Amino acid sequence: MKVLTGTPPQLARWAADRVLHRLRTRSLSVLGVATGSSPLPVYRALAASGEPALASLRVFALDEYVGLPHHHPQSYHCVVDREVTRPLGLDPARVHVPDGAADDLDAAAAEYEHLIAASGGIDLQVLGIGANGHVGFNEPFSSLRSRTRVETLTARTRRDNARFFGGDLQQVPTSCLTQGLGTILDADEVVLIATGAAKAHAVAQMVEGPLSSACPASVLQLHPRATVLLDDRAAAQLTRRDDHEQAGAATGPPRNP
Ligand code: F6R
Repeated sequence: MKVLTGTPPQLARWAADRVLHRLRTRSLSVLGVATGSSPLPVYRALAASGEPALASLRVFALDEYVGLPHHHPQSYHCVVDREVTRPLGLDPARVHVPDGAADDLDAAAAEYEHLIAASGGIDLQVLGIGANGHVGFNEPFSSLRSRTRVETLTARTRRDNARFFGGDLQQVPTSCLTQGLGTILDADEVVLIATGAAKAHAVAQMVEGPLSSACPASVLQLHPRATVLLDDRAAAQLTRRDDHEQAGAATGPPRNP
């Protein structure tokens, strides 16, 4: 995996430029989006670009809480609508989020996999990482080949996400529908963004640790086109920091990782 370091604005710029470059060279029609706070500056940079071709994108979210109605402000249906669909001027019919409110969650998961495959697969997947090493909501000890499915959220993830629910842990759902690690690995390219000291341990495990379901993000070591964008605090526990390039150093459109 390729690791680039920089300031949070440089990382967002790099990721947005990568999306725009692939869009303009017609190698991106299906974008995978993460929710959470890390990728928000990327979506804002994309929106600010005013690129009209953005409207042609089909978008798939990584995950959704189980049990929240679609109109709940913290459901990923609402978050994606607020942070991605509207700012980028997308047709809501082309934006997909797993249906965590479905009566039959297994069927909803299978249908989501089917929809991704029918769209031709995800060209570029934007990812964040949990402090416990999750990607999507694939919590530690998820199968490295897992597909979209119901997953139980760990206590750590629920505590970390309580900030989105006014700090009230009781309001945080206990399970979710998430793309699996195998689903994420199927994307043509992945770009993971991690900022802040709370991510430093998980980032070190992902980049330098052994491939292990104890750190689900380490599965990205198997991906042929994975770029990890880190600020200094998230990169702090890497032992080989000198080996990594600066996200702001390159000129021109980002090259293939
Ligand atoms: C969200 C998701 C999660 C987050 C991760 C980091 O769709 O899939 O893996 O990316 O929990 O969240 P933030 O960026 O809020 O620290």
